[in-house]
Amino acid sequence: MEAYRGADRAGQRMSWRLDEPRLVREGDALRVREAGADDLEAILAIEETAHPTPWIAEVFEREMALDWSYLWLFERGNKAVGFLVFWVIHDEVHILNVAVDPACRRQGIATAVLVYLVEIAEEHASSFVTLEVREHNQAAIALYESLGFEIIGKREQYYADTGEDAFIMSCIL
Ligand SMILES: CC(C)(COP(=O)(O)OP(=O)(O)OC[C@H]1O[C@@H](n2cnc3c(N)ncnc32)[C@H](O)[C@@H]1OP(=O)(O)O)[C@@H](O)C(=O)NCCC(=O)NCCS
Repeated sequence: MEAYRGADRAGQRMSWRLDEPRLVREGDALRVREAGADDLEAILAIEETAHPTPWIAEVFEREMALDWSYLWLFERGNKAVGFLVFWVIHDEVHILNVAVDPACRRQGIATAVLVYLVEIAEEHASSFVTLEVREHNQAAIALYESLGFEIIGKREQYYADTGEDAFIMSCIL
């Protein structure tokens, strides 16, 4: 991950729960902040572009209510450009969902936020970050591999909508 470390965030306290917006990249003032109910509309608009079977509002609301679940919104200026949902369970960080507005993809946004997540995970002495990804989702697999994740297993027919297998990917910290 070392090669990806970027912005100087000196003075910003690292925490899973973002009590205030955090700058993750200086060049375009990319920030992440804790999402709230008021952000659902923007999140759903991005979610609907992102997955074959998008999560509905109730799924996001359920995640927001869980102590171990985190929902971060990515913003440039006042515009929502993506989001990340992850769980923290003991020493594991598990990514459930990440998506970037199609108009803003291939600009390093997901990379910048995931690097930030890993920095916080390291600060909290987490052991690894894991996730499942659709076997045909080349963009996401390439993203994770570029960050040092490796495929460590497969769950057959994990996705009921398409019958696709899931690759289990992991990044050891
Ligand atoms: C996957 C996703 C989150 C990536 O977001 P992003 O901000 O565009 O990603 P980045 O710009 O940080 O890309 C980093 C690297 O990932 C790889 N990558 C990203 N998108 C790619 C694509 N469409 N094709 C091939 N490689 C891709 C590249 O290696 C890229 O580096 P490069 O642009 O220098 O070549 C975005 O494509 C998305 O929202 N997809 C739909 C939702 C989804 O599939 N989420 C993942 C579920 S597990």
